[in-house]
Amino acid sequence: MSLPTTPINVADYQRLAGEILADGPLGYFNGGAADENTLEANELAWAKFKLRPRVCVDVSSISTTTSVLGHELSAPLLVAPTALQRMAHDDGEIGMAQAAASAGSLMVCSTLASTPLAQIAAAAPSAPRWLQLYLSRDRAVSESLVEQGVNAGASAIVVTVDAPYAGRRERDLRNGFVVPPGIDMPGVTAALGRSEGLSVEEFFSIVDPSLDWLALEEFISGAPLPVLIKGVQCGEDARLACEHGVAGIIVSNHGGRQLDNVAATADVLGEVVDAVGGQVEVLVDGGIRRGSDICTALALGAKAVLVGRPALWGLTVGGSAGAADVLRLLADELSLAMALLGARSPAELNRGHLAKNG
Ligand SMILES: Cc1cc2nc3c(=O)[nH]c(=O)nc-3n(C[C@H](O)[C@H](O)[C@H](O)COP(=O)(O)O)c2cc1C
Repeated sequence: MSLPTTPINVADYQRLAGEILADGPLGYFNGGAADENTLEANELAWAKFKLRPRVCVDVSSISTTTSVLGHELSAPLLVAPTALQRMAHDDGEIGMAQAAASAGSLMVCSTLASTPLAQIAAAAPSAPRWLQLYLSRDRAVSESLVEQGVNAGASAIVVTVDAPYAGRRERDLRNGFVVPPGIDMPGVTAALGRSEGLSVEEFFSIVDPSLDWLALEEFISGAPLPVLIKGVQCGEDARLACEHGVAGIIVSNHGGRQLDNVAATADVLGEVVDAVGGQVEVLVDGGIRRGSDICTALALGAKAVLVGRPALWGLTVGGSAGAADVLRLLADELSLAMALLGARSPAELNRGHLAKNG
């Protein structure tokens, strides 16, 4: 099959990125844990929810704008934290920040960013950004990263809790993947006071696997910014997260990169939304590839979605402009899907827009 010269959807960007990247970075970006069952399920599960349009609604004017934790965004679509974006394209995190800004989105910067947070912030000074954090065994390391985030104008911290250890990513094992020379994680090395870079495995050895709800609450109570938790996959944990003071919940299985055979995020989102009962905003990521997937997530009760790989594929193919194009085309698809569903704003989407499965 010949490749389209002009990508018109996320799948086109994925194919083109596959032509560009070397095996190591491609496997790192695209791969999941073990047999990659959850990686596949994440994508398939959204389409298993059938949409249920309402007709004869005046859809002459559609707005995808929404607010997420008080930030006005042009669509309920954020850039998920993904490591080492300079492996995708020289534009790296700077290009991603500019893309998010131009699309009216919000970028969540990974702890494992390959560009200093200060430079990411300088690239898009007026755009909102959050800092993603893995809590370290040595809390001074986390505090240093938080300080970098605060200085870079982050308005919230996203603590990722689904990775006390790195998942078994077999594409990386087969490829003998190592971070390419010239690319490092300056935020982490600065926090560790190291002069030389470190590998992804070395990084995970500093993550605190003893983190429990009390330790999280302690971190939240001392944090200078609101804290969201990323990696919740069931209603019980969503309730505990609320009890322990989170400002928001991100339903995520790390894009199928941690424990394989966990349920697709689409299949646990409703349970989490119901458990939270509106106490905090619920976001979701994993396998979002179409505007109609975003409709389904919103109809199930998510306030917004995040995309990881799609933004990386856009960055790979076209640098900052490519990442911006991916965000824009997803927002355009969302707008059309909303119109065809009879929903004029994200707030109008509800479970009535979903057919009962089976
Ligand atoms: C290459 C790659 C790197 C990632 N790095 C991080 C990270 O540093 N921190 C984090 O919390 N999640 C990380 N994730 C998970 C994403 O934030 C997100 O949960 C996932 O990509 C969503 O699935 P999607 O790629 O299908 O959109 C990473 C995902 C990918 C694909």
